[in-house]
This record gives sequence, C-alpha cells and structure tokens, in this order.
Amino acid sequence: MTSSVLRVTLDQPFADQKPGTSGLRKSSRQFETPHYLESFIEAILRTVPGVAGGTLVVGGDGRYGNLRAIDVISRMAAAHGVARLITTTDGILSTPAASNLIRKHGAVAGIILSASHNPGGPEGDFGVKVNGANGGPAPESLTDAIYACSQTLDGYRIVEAPSISLEAPGQHAIAALTLEVIDGVDDYLALMQQLFDFDQIGDLLRNNYPIAFDAMHAVTGPYAKRLLEGLLGAPKGTVRNAVPLEDFGGGHPDPNLTYAHELAELLLQGDDYRFGAACDGDGDRNMILGRRCFVNPSDSLAVLTANATLAPAYADGLAGVARSMPTSAAVDVVAKQLGIACYETPTGWKFFGNLLDAGRITLCGEESFGTGSNHIREKDGLWAVLFWLQLLARKRTSVAAIMADHWSRFGRHYYSRHDYEAIASDRAHGLYDRLKGLLPSLAGERFAGRAIATADDFSYTDPVDGSLTTGQGLRLLLDDGSRVVFRLSGTGTQGATLRVYLESYVSPEGQLQQDPQLALADLIQAADQLAEIKLRTGMGVPTVIT
Ligand code: G1P
Ligand code: ZN
Repeated sequence: MTSSVLRVTLDQPFADQKPGTSGLRKSSRQFETPHYLESFIEAILRTVPGVAGGTLVVGGDGRYGNLRAIDVISRMAAAHGVARLITTTDGILSTPAASNLIRKHGAVAGIILSASHNPGGPEGDFGVKVNGANGGPAPESLTDAIYACSQTLDGYRIVEAPSISLEAPGQHAIAALTLEVIDGVDDYLALMQQLFDFDQIGDLLRNNYPIAFDAMHAVTGPYAKRLLEGLLGAPKGTVRNAVPLEDFGGGHPDPNLTYAHELAELLLQGDDYRFGAACDGDGDRNMILGRRCFVNPSDSLAVLTANATLAPAYADGLAGVARSMPTSAAVDVVAKQLGIACYETPTGWKFFGNLLDAGRITLCGEESFGTGSNHIREKDGLWAVLFWLQLLARKRTSVAAIMADHWSRFGRHYYSRHDYEAIASDRAHGLYDRLKGLLPSLAGERFAGRAIATADDFSYTDPVDGSLTTGQGLRLLLDDGSRVVFRLSGTGTQGATLRVYLESYVSPEGQLQQDPQLALADLIQAADQLAEIKLRTGMGVPTVIT
C-alpha cells in the first residue's frame, strides 16, 4: 500500500498546551479542536530524543478519544520515522502496564492517553502523558522543552493512511513503521507473578475470604479480572464495574471515599467483605479498605514499608523510601526504625524517578492514593492491592488489626486532605498569594494552640542530579510535629483547586482512637482562619474530604 506524508501548516501555534503535573489535560472538546492533539504530538515527536528509528509505546485508559488519538499518533509516528510502535488490543493500556512495556521493549518513550481520575466522555476530559525511556513520567526539563516546541510550531507531519483496527493482536505497516498490537495485560500479569507469592494469595482468596474490587468502568477491569478471578481464583463477581467504558459509566473514576462510595459503603457499613479496593481511570491509584476500616494512603505506604519483607520481591529489605511532601510522615517513622533513608519530594510521581533509577529507594508513595516500587517507574494501583493481599495472606488477620498493630508500634499520624474544587482562578490565586506573602511573618506565631516553627514555600534539590524545584506548596510546621500544607492543584481543568493537607501525630503511648476530622478539628479551623478560605472562596465546606 502506498502512503504519503501530509504536511499540515498551522496559522498560529496553540497557546494553551502547557503540560501540568501529569501531562496535558484538557476537555475532550478542546482535544477535538482541529489540529490541537496533532500539535502537541508533533511537539513530542520533535523533542523526545531517539524518535527516528526508535520504538514507542502508546495506549490509554479507554476513555472517549482514546482510539482516535492512537490512530493519529500512529500515523504521525510513521511520518517522523519511528521504526516500531507498540500498542494494545482495543488500545487499552494502564499507566503502570505502559511503564512496564516501555522498559521491557527499550522504547525511547511512551505516550499514555488518559486524564487519570478525571471524568471522561465527550463532555469530560482527555489527556496526553509522556513517559521517558526509564518508563516514568517525563522530567520537567523534557515537558518544558515539549511546551517550548509547541509554542513555535508552524505545522505537523502525518501519514495519510486508513486507520487500523486494534481489535486483535497482530502486526501492521504504516509506511516504514511497524505497528504491533499486543495483549496489554499479559506482560503486566507476568511482572506481578515475579513480585508476589500467588500460591499464598490464591490460597487466601479461594478459601472463604470474600473481597470486592471496583474497577470503576475504567482500565483496570480487564487486568483485575484475569488477576483476581483468573490466576488467583477469587469468585466471579469479585471485580465490579469491570468493563472499561468511554465515559466510565458517567462516573468519576477516582478511588476515594467520595467517588468510590458504593464500595466504601460495602466495606465500611456492611459485613460481607473482608477486603475492598478500587483503582482510578488509568490504574495507577489505589484505595484500600478493610471491614469497617479505611486505610489512608499515607498509612498504607508506612504499613507496606514496615512489612515489605513479607513479599518475595522485597524479602531482602528496602534500599530506602520516599514520599511526596504533603504525604503524612507515617513512613518516616518506620524508615527511621528500619534504619533506611527516607526522602521528601515535591508532589508528582516524576520526582521519584531519579531516586528509583539510582537505587536509593525501593518503595514510594503519595497521599493521593498513589503507591509504587522500583518494579516500574509509575505508581501502580493493582500492585498495591496485591501487596496488601500478600500481607493478609501471610498474617491471616484483618486490615483493621494490621492498622491497630501498626499504630501501637509506630504511633499514629492523623491525616486529612480538604479539597476546594473549581474555585474561580483569580480568587484561588488571590488567597494563595496572600498566604505566601504572610509566611515570613508567621514563624514563632501561635497556631491552634501550638507555635509555628517554620513557615515556608517548599523547594527541593534532587539528590541525584542536583536540580532545584521551587514553589511546591506553603508549609506550616508546628512545634509539636503537626503540619498544615496549602497547595494549588496542577491537574484540574476547571478553575483552580485548593488543597489543604492537615496532619498531627500521636505517639504509641498517647493512643486515643478518634475520627481524623475530630482529631484535626483545631488545625482545620486555624487553617481556615489564617487563609480566609471560606471568606475568599465562598465555600462553606470542602468539595472532597479525604
Ligand atoms: C494530583 C495529586 C498528586 C498526583 C497527581 C497525579 O495532583 O495531588 O499527588 O501526583 O494528581 O496523579 P494535583 O492535582 O494535586 O497537582
Ligand atoms: Zn491515575
């Protein structure tokens, strides 16, 4: 078949193609604007090193726009001389599975089509994420270069060819490019089998240990079905909402107590299940629940760290751990006791990449339901679920008992995040800038009955490459170890989102089991007073409380 390269000229470049914390995320409608997607892809293909003659991986979470984007990317990759493009049946590829494929096939990069946990569909959001050769989110230097390229773009190149069906595995040619359609689940399952003891976990799940997994009609459905109901023998129906839908069934595929409330009710109010879990749109986030027990993600990282040697992959111990700055310090306490390094990074998985590549850390996580390890370079929802099942299979106890035991050994970090979503952008920035201006005068001041020890805007020097990242969130560190952090989200698509992170520590001796909202009530009130949140946003309560 003959195919020709079409050169499309642009009158002017798109101004709003600046990638945020996780790639370029905009409304599906915006991505349908003529030449919009193509422009960003052109900037990627011109900027990523090794594109000509190299291998690329592409796939996505199945949302509206996924297949069209794969078609466009395939034909543009062909026009840019990419030798091999690996994609998956139906274009379904979770973010962690993509990270694995990039590493496995020595790809120069991966392009992941997802807006993560944001709703999908024609009226929802779409997104394009770029991952580098190590399998992790592109570092800021690369995303900045892609953005700069997109700002001066005069046109793009695309091969004119009929689109290729991705319904079955197979090989196709687009000009000189080989398009390989592979099963997107196989390699991921093989990787998980290397990390965990499937006999032990299977033994648990086959023997009257009912669990519920909610795929939220997003990408993890096919993975979880084969993993939990197939290889591990859990009963049929264990995986709920297992079929990926273009609009996630109208839901918001974010595994938290608000958006995964059906699962939360099953576990927190009912007695039918021993364990529950959910993953987000693209499969990198996880929520862990036990019977009448919610595990906050900061605690989850601490528990996995404390018990890591129970999983075959980590039996020899951990090199070190890392958490993002707003994540609670629960893991710090464990790391100290284990005598391993603990790093505090800015928000966003890309900051873990260098530490993982350098072998300085084995596990890492964020408060935003992200947990992962050195097996890939992304957070990994199903990996976290399997890790918890591994602990349960070894300990033969309940999730609640694991938590109680953990707190009695290490103390408890009461923790909550309050999100104020879709605030008018100028109001949010007004609030934030005012607070930032106040910081220098706050040290030594009283706050919720404590003294403010430090008030600063978090910055980070990467210990591996020495790069400096500034402006990562306003921190109030109090003299009793409590913290309050204010950040503006980098992933929202409507207005601005203010996140307030609250944390206080109670030592093993001072144990008093309490609802975190009660334990943190004085900090919550003081934070509102200082930042004038209600006043300036006009919102009486947060949109989401985690
Ligand atoms: C949010 C989370 C952050 C995570 C990112 C991508 O970013 O808070 O931890 O890395 O999504 O999943 P934010 O909207 O806060 O910038
Ligand atoms: Zn995600």
